[in-house]
Amino acid sequence: MYIKDLSAHEGQEVTLKGWVSNKREGKGLVFVILRDGTGLCQCVVSAETVSEEVFENARSLTLESSLTITGKVLKDDRQVGGYELQVNNLNIIQITQDYPIAKKEHGVEFLMDKRHLWLRSNRQWAIMKIRNQLIYSIHNFFQRNGFVQMDAPLFTANASEGTTNLFETDFFGDPAYLSQSGQLYGEAMAMALGKIYTFGPTFRAEKSKTRRHLAEFWMIEPEMAFYDIFDNMDLIEDFLRSIVTDVLNNCKTELEMVGRDTAILENIAKPFPRLTYDEAVRIIKGEQDVNGVNSIKSLEDELLKVQTRIAEVEKEIEEREEKIKTPGMRKGEIGFNQSKIDQLKGELKDLEEDQRNIPQWIASAKNFEYGNDFGGSDETVITRLFDVPIMVYNWPHEVKAFYLKRDPENERFARGVDVLAPEGYGEIVGGGERETNLEMLTAKIEEHQLPMEAFEWYLDLRRYGSVPHAGFGLGLERIVTWVCKLPHVRESIPFPRMYGNLKP
Ligand code: 4AD
Ligand code: MG
Repeated sequence: MYIKDLSAHEGQEVTLKGWVSNKREGKGLVFVILRDGTGLCQCVVSAETVSEEVFENARSLTLESSLTITGKVLKDDRQVGGYELQVNNLNIIQITQDYPIAKKEHGVEFLMDKRHLWLRSNRQWAIMKIRNQLIYSIHNFFQRNGFVQMDAPLFTANASEGTTNLFETDFFGDPAYLSQSGQLYGEAMAMALGKIYTFGPTFRAEKSKTRRHLAEFWMIEPEMAFYDIFDNMDLIEDFLRSIVTDVLNNCKTELEMVGRDTAILENIAKPFPRLTYDEAVRIIKGEQDVNGVNSIKSLEDELLKVQTRIAEVEKEIEEREEKIKTPGMRKGEIGFNQSKIDQLKGELKDLEEDQRNIPQWIASAKNFEYGNDFGGSDETVITRLFDVPIMVYNWPHEVKAFYLKRDPENERFARGVDVLAPEGYGEIVGGGERETNLEMLTAKIEEHQLPMEAFEWYLDLRRYGSVPHAGFGLGLERIVTWVCKLPHVRESIPFPRMYGNLKP
């Protein structure tokens, strides 16, 4: 019996198996919050209805002890999960000693180090459930729309997304690279099967310690024969709307547990604004407003607000610290003030980070040079102005991948498209229409100083039955991070691999 199925067993006696997520004791009562991987349930052990031995066993339970527990299911809307177990019996499997993660606040460094245990916490549980829903919905969307799933190789002989971020390995004495993208193989498969998608691990060796970068992440890359960039953008929009709507419909509890304001996610139903690179640059530089809001002006206002709030918070911390020093203050009141102080200190840390970041965002927005790719700050600046994902297309061809089609209407641009998630999140999808002109493509391979010989097979796709085609790549962790509104991508994957982080 699993906690998620309790509703079908109201009034019946059931046995649950799980771990102690929390415990408190009252007069003649022990309240155990049990977690079993499917949910949480309050189990009430009363000295009046169980044997003395069972009651003592309940009292001996510690955080993360494992047990089986039997009792009657009662509906109780006030309790987590909506049901309560009135316990008759319990069997201890293991009493846990000194569980390293306490109920108090821990720093992220410490928690990352204990990632194998941190995954048991409510918040991490909710994130992993949302990740799972997204994975399921992604497959579901493509399968019901006639796409064939394919697995691209992970050992590759050539770069596809630039040569500066390759992990090199030894392949029977020859150098091989861990795949940066399955796209080139996806293009070959699209010429065989029409519409395909890959879903696999992807490796990038850039030494970036940003909130957006992983060294190993999961990418979903559809590729469609006979699609141009506009068909591609329509598909991206349908796809993202479909998978986020599934999360809204199926993960209400999980979204609540991560504290996500779902009103913003509901905007996914609205059309995604499509901006050319030129328009996006004007918005970043503050030369064009979005619904009457100016990028630079709004950042300057935000900075003032942050500074005012910092002063308020510092004052309140000081006052409360003074207060708890008052002689004769009750323990309860000291505890209350101390927890307020801890909370305020947490807020202060975030505010101070904003205070450091905002001036950098302002400077990089003002100094943005037309023709450059967007950096993290630029993406933050533009997406803070939107409440729905935006698509930026027609990029200067020099800053994008070699395989993108040159825009026939303006040779300066490549037909690439990036989708940027709102609320400051930035790029979640990169894609575009592919170059089909053999001369243009070989010129690009040379310009990028890639070994022509490793691309001969890829050029064959343009020699034999070449057709217009397009595709895109969604970073799974990037969308989990945005959907859950996480401060950093590291919490979106069970065991993150990042520059400076290989364990556990
Ligand atoms: O924009 P990227 O580099 O595009 C490609 O790899 C294309 N081959 C995709 C295609 O057209 N088939 O990567 C695609 C997406 C990004 O938008 C981002 O969501 C994610 O992959 N991504 C990363 N996620 C986490 N950590 C990193 N270091 C990432 N690099 C890219
Ligand atoms: Mg990209």
